[in-house]
Amino acid sequence: MKHFITPADVPSVKELIEEGLRQKANPTADNKLGKDKTLCLLFFNSSLRTRLSTQKAGINLGMNVIVMNVGADSWQLEFEDGVTMNGNKAEHIKEAAAVIGQYADIIGVRAFAGLTNREEDYQELVLESFRKLSGVPVVNLESATRHPCQSLADLITIEELKLKTRPKVVLTWAPHIKPLPQAVGNSFAEWLNLTEYDFVIANPEGYDLAPEFVGKAKVTHNQAEAFEGADFIYAKNWSSLEHYGQVLPGNEDWIISAEKMKLTDNAKFMHCLPVRRGLIVEDAVIDSDNSVVIQQAGNRVWSVQAALKKILEEL
Ligand code: CP
Repeated sequence: MKHFITPADVPSVKELIEEGLRQKANPTADNKLGKDKTLCLLFFNSSLRTRLSTQKAGINLGMNVIVMNVGADSWQLEFEDGVTMNGNKAEHIKEAAAVIGQYADIIGVRAFAGLTNREEDYQELVLESFRKLSGVPVVNLESATRHPCQSLADLITIEELKLKTRPKVVLTWAPHIKPLPQAVGNSFAEWLNLTEYDFVIANPEGYDLAPEFVGKAKVTHNQAEAFEGADFIYAKNWSSLEHYGQVLPGNEDWIISAEKMKLTDNAKFMHCLPVRRGLIVEDAVIDSDNSVVIQQAGNRVWSVQAALKKILEEL
């Protein structure tokens, strides 16, 4: 595998899930593979799980891992071509990405959507710049529109827990006070569409995800209807795509409650974390035996470890 940016980079999603489960069963089996190789993780935004799980995965594979908070620890980067750099951005991505490529064998990048310009965000300027200019493989640690390390961990978790060959999986929008990117919702939909699961997306009017991510999923604006007979409830907030980056008034009643979970077939509760209790989900749900958020977060190590392994094998 050359990069891990979208599922299109992955020859077989099924095989990658199996690889993640193999890594989980034997975390250091491939610790010679990354010897003398350097993994450089670049964070334009905050992180707990992604940062630590990717470091851990690199260490498990025998890699040297270096981490930088871009902007806070380095120069501010300019991404536009042909500009006169007379503002606060001291270094152009053309030099920065090429230089980092001299130090790293694999680069991981986290760069969220700005949520002001939909076209710019959906062009994935930051990730694409590193892919084109660094000269080394790039791992997407959550970009403007996708979070593949999360989605692969989510699929690994469902694979571990499913009681039916074709479980009903529901991605449901849930309320938040701040505008959040669509990346996790987009990515979960994109990866779920590569499975044979019965997949439903529930969101209020005005919050439909982009059609290229929705794919063959059933979409409903009726949350209770979606919950009927579900085996997995995956909650996530995202801001409006149509009214780009906005939080629309109302919809506070889309919180995941114990009452709504009773409509399901004893469904597992999933969320990528961090989660705002009392806003996205009631304590009674996230603290219940059906909550699998910690297992899901634990699987973040094995998802990125599987992806890094596939890249290392082709270096
Ligand atoms: N789920 C996730 O990506 O968590 P962090 O933002 O803490 O990395």
